[in-house]
Amino acid sequence: MPLIRTIQMNPGSRLGVWKITEEEDFFAGKVNISTAIHHPHKRLQHFAGRYLLTELFPDFPIRDIRIMESRKPYVHGNDYHFSISHCGDYVAAIVSKEEAVGIDIEEITNKIEKVSHKFLSVTEQAFIDPGNALAQKTICWSAKEAVFKWYGLGSVDFKENMTIEPFTFQPKGFLTCNFNKADKNARLYLQYLLDNELCLTWTA
Ligand SMILES: CC(C)(COP(=O)(O)OP(=O)(O)OC[C@H]1O[C@@H](n2cnc3c(N)ncnc32)[C@H](O)[C@@H]1OP(=O)(O)O)[C@@H](O)C(=O)NCCC(=O)NCCS
Repeated sequence: MPLIRTIQMNPGSRLGVWKITEEEDFFAGKVNISTAIHHPHKRLQHFAGRYLLTELFPDFPIRDIRIMESRKPYVHGNDYHFSISHCGDYVAAIVSKEEAVGIDIEEITNKIEKVSHKFLSVTEQAFIDPGNALAQKTICWSAKEAVFKWYGLGSVDFKENMTIEPFTFQPKGFLTCNFNKADKNARLYLQYLLDNELCLTWTA
């Protein structure tokens, strides 16, 4: 299936979501890269992510992708910043020629309730809309995962180093996340949308 959604944020930044209905050969043949991933579905997701980068920017240099110690993939020379996320049969990618980016695609499930105290502070929990708690907590988790990828160096405490400012739940919207760590401080704007039991969040 082709791209189910594309967003052009500005001339140098694009985002896409692909629903995987193809077999591995479709992607593997086109991206022509090797991977050590053995699990068939994870390998399919991995190939689809790389393929999506070239759909967004046809000249994307996927063969120049390197992996940091933190596992963050990056393009050697830093001409392109990018981030990838997969969830089931969906893969999302964001590419920017200008600045670091992060993206996350998440299924909205009850599992988030059990762990929300681990990634939401008491202050953050206070703004969660009781009527839409599951969806809003998923947005917060997804936002923090996107910021984690934006930072890229790993070792982030989701409660201590990231604080989401109060926002009103809506099926799509914006939120602000403050990132505070000894080596980096930033105020990040993120956009999110809920669609088909999925939550997509990205650095805007
Ligand atoms: C790395 C991490 C964000 C991946 O998330 P995930 O839900 O497992 O998987 P996603 O599909 O959303 O993302 C996977 C992609 O993230 C990217 N990625 C992996 N590590 C990364 C990192 N350190 N920085 C940025 N991007 C990273 C890769 O592109 C990967 O896909 P690929 O291997 O096919 O290229 C996640 O495993 C993680 O470590 N989260 C933080 C955990 C944590 O500290 N939690 C505390 C909560 S209280």
